[in-house]
Amino acid sequence: MIDGKTRTCGLIGNPVEHTMSPIIHNTLAGTCGHNLVYVPFPVENGSLEDAIKGAYALNILGLNVTVPYKSEVIRSLIEVDGLAAKIGAVNTLVRTEGGFKGYNTDMSGLHRAMISEGIRIEGEEIVLLGAGGAARAVAYLCGEQKAKKVYLLNRTLDKAERIAKEVNGAFAKDVIVPMLLADYPKLPCGKYLAIQGTSVGLFPHDEEAIIEDAAFYQKIHTGFDLIYKPFTTKFMKLVTQAGGKAYNGLKMLLYQGIDAYELWNQVEISEEEAAHVYHALKTAMGL
Ligand code: ATR
Repeated sequence: MIDGKTRTCGLIGNPVEHTMSPIIHNTLAGTCGHNLVYVPFPVENGSLEDAIKGAYALNILGLNVTVPYKSEVIRSLIEVDGLAAKIGAVNTLVRTEGGFKGYNTDMSGLHRAMISEGIRIEGEEIVLLGAGGAARAVAYLCGEQKAKKVYLLNRTLDKAERIAKEVNGAFAKDVIVPMLLADYPKLPCGKYLAIQGTSVGLFPHDEEAIIEDAAFYQKIHTGFDLIYKPFTTKFMKLVTQAGGKAYNGLKMLLYQGIDAYELWNQVEISEEEAAHVYHALKTAMGL
C-alpha cells in the first residue's frame, strides 16, 4: 500500500509508454516487501536537466534512463561508475549525498544474463553484429571481460572502425577487428559466440535476419540476440538450425533491472526471485 513512507523510483526517456521496467521493479518490490513504487516519467527534449534536479529535490531514490538521454544525462550527475564512464552511456542513476551517481546496468545485466546461461566472454572469439549504441556498449563489455577477439561486423564500415579504435584504445589491446558486414565469408575458420546487436529482426519484422546465409551459422556455437520481441528471432532460428544454442535479450532486460534494483535498495536478489520476475515479464508479453 502507498503511504507516507513510500519511496519512488522511475524511468526517464522519450518515449516511455512501452517500457516493461515497471513490471520488473514493482514485482521485485512486492516479493522483497519493500515500500517502493516505480513509475515512467516522459521527459520532453530540452527538459532533462530540470527533470534530474527535480527528481533529486523530490527525494527520488533511483532512476533508469532510456533513449534518447543515456549520454546526455552524464553532465547532470555527480559521479559515473567505471564502465559507464568508459562507454559514455548511463542507464541507472542512484541517489547519493549531493546528487545522482550513474551506472550502466545494460552491460552488467547482459554479462549477468550470459553467466546465468553459462556463456563466457573471457577468452572467447566473438562475432558482434552491428555498430549502433547497443553494439558499441557490448564491444566495451567484451573488452572489459577480456574476450580473445571480437570481429565487429557492420553494414557501415566506418562506424565499426570508430568503435574498434575507441575500445582498443580504452583497453590498450587490439581486441576489436572491424569488418564490413558483407565480408562475413572472410571470417577465419573457427567456432564463435555471435552477439546480434542490430535492429534487424525486431518486431514486426520477424522474418528478417541480419545474415541469412546458412554457411555463416555453421561457424556459430552460440547466438545471443539482444532482441526479445519476437521471443524467438529469425537469427536465433538460423543459429539453432545449424546446431548452435540460441538466446534472446529478455534475460538482459531482466538483469539490467535487477542490477539497478540492487543498487537502489542495497540488496541481493536471489535466482529464485529473478525467476519470478522473468515469469512476470513473459506473462506481460503474452507468453
Ligand atoms: P541501437 O542504439 O539500438 O544500437 P542504432 O544506433 O540505430 O540502434 O543502430 C542500429 C544498428 O543496426 C546499426 O549497426 C545499423 O547498421 P548501420 O550502422 O550500417 O546503419 C544496423 N542496421 C539497421 N538496419 C539494418 C539493415 N537493414 N541492414 C544491416 N544493418 C542494419
